[in-house]
Amino acid sequence: MDKEEKKGKPGWDKKVGAARKKPWGGRFAQGMDETVEAFTASLSFDHRLALEDIEGSRAHCRMLLKQGIIAEEEARLIQRGLEEIEEEIRSDSFPYDLSLEDIHMNIEGRLVEKVGPVGGKLHTGRSRNDQVALDMHLFVKKETLGVMERIKRLQETIFQLALEHLAVVFPGYTHLQRAQPVLLSHHLMAYFWMLQRDRERFAGTYKRADIMPLGAGALSGTSFPVDREDVARELGFARLYENSMDAVSDRDFVLEFLSSAAVLIMHLSRLSEELILWSSQEFSFIELDDAFTTGSSMMPQKKNPDVAELVRAKTGRVYGNLVSLLTVLKGLPLAYNKDMQEDKEPLFDTVDTVANVLNVFTAMMGRVTVNEKRIEQAFESDYSTATELADFLAQKGVPFREAHFVVGGLVRYCLESGKKHLGELSAHEISSFHPELASEEACRLLDYRQAVEAKKCRGGTAEAAVKFQLEKARQLLGETLI
Ligand code: ARG
Repeated sequence: MDKEEKKGKPGWDKKVGAARKKPWGGRFAQGMDETVEAFTASLSFDHRLALEDIEGSRAHCRMLLKQGIIAEEEARLIQRGLEEIEEEIRSDSFPYDLSLEDIHMNIEGRLVEKVGPVGGKLHTGRSRNDQVALDMHLFVKKETLGVMERIKRLQETIFQLALEHLAVVFPGYTHLQRAQPVLLSHHLMAYFWMLQRDRERFAGTYKRADIMPLGAGALSGTSFPVDREDVARELGFARLYENSMDAVSDRDFVLEFLSSAAVLIMHLSRLSEELILWSSQEFSFIELDDAFTTGSSMMPQKKNPDVAELVRAKTGRVYGNLVSLLTVLKGLPLAYNKDMQEDKEPLFDTVDTVANVLNVFTAMMGRVTVNEKRIEQAFESDYSTATELADFLAQKGVPFREAHFVVGGLVRYCLESGKKHLGELSAHEISSFHPELASEEACRLLDYRQAVEAKKCRGGTAEAAVKFQLEKARQLLGETLI
């Protein structure tokens, strides 16, 4: 730097020029270093908030007019300018300028360019701190509704699949070992209920995002006679922040979105894992549609469940985004800190990831082929009705522990004598293990369909109970949560 540069004369160096252009440039004798400018700017990502920013500014401007803080002609010019800017953004002709740091200052700068110095009155009684908080609330509210709608579509698809294969008996697992037979519809509907909780979680997220921060100013409120209720009404917010410092420091609603998304994608990852297993040659319970699989560049026979695998993997970034923002916020003193600018990329990435995942996953689930024959074959070598027999003995008064041991012996006998399922045992063989087993009823219980039908309790896997469940689910799909 030469001597002249240090004096910071305007207009002779582009860095100084940039400083003059900054809305906050008044206090600075020198321009910003280019690397700092690039490092601190958020425009490359927060341009996504452009429409929310304009919506918020227009409501703020209307309120300033109503409260007599700005004149009618001033408000008219500002509104017209904002309208034009909105058009430029929508038509992708807005002249973004990185030296103006973020989307808020880009829009304000453009407004002044369009309508003259009166554009500078828009920021009366407002700070970028409450402005960006407002934009984030509007954005999270909108995206939350979007996710909820997409979750619902996936629930509908799962519901349909369950309905279509209502009575198919399916091996139920614990520890990924055959446990007890269930209906495939029952297994699928378990995911419906997980997704229902996800939808409810997002409804809660929405509720806590539905709170209006504008009027908080930089941190302490504003001395202008603003009407915060009016802005909240105009923008469709249910409540106002009651504390200006909380209003500009709070990103809980972003965290909640990220954590609701983390639970959601964990569910989708679990279902993905099942689809991957079920579509493997070892299981062959389902077939994924060709359109949702890929081939191998080397092995001609391969059909890979890439979509499900990627959904399983995307869980990593969604969890990462949550942990990232939790870490950013941890230890921040009140009120606004620049750290908080780092809330956006994790949010945007999660919004996009979850939207893409739900879209492709729903389409894939809608085209799953269930291999009913193969599923039925699974029961040709299976001991998963053993619990029925133990329960039967317990009902006859045999202590359950003893009953468990007796039936365990029966299973061992089958294994040792090469019987692939308990149904291969003769009545005589069965009754030799316990006198109470000398009954036709005991033999009937070994049928896996019978085992399913016996689980009539509410929430059980008997067909009638699953029908009841489906009816509940149908009702819930008709209800709105917000
Ligand atoms: N780009 C900033 C953000 O996203 C806007 C708020 C800036 N406020 C400030 N005082 N520097 O957080």
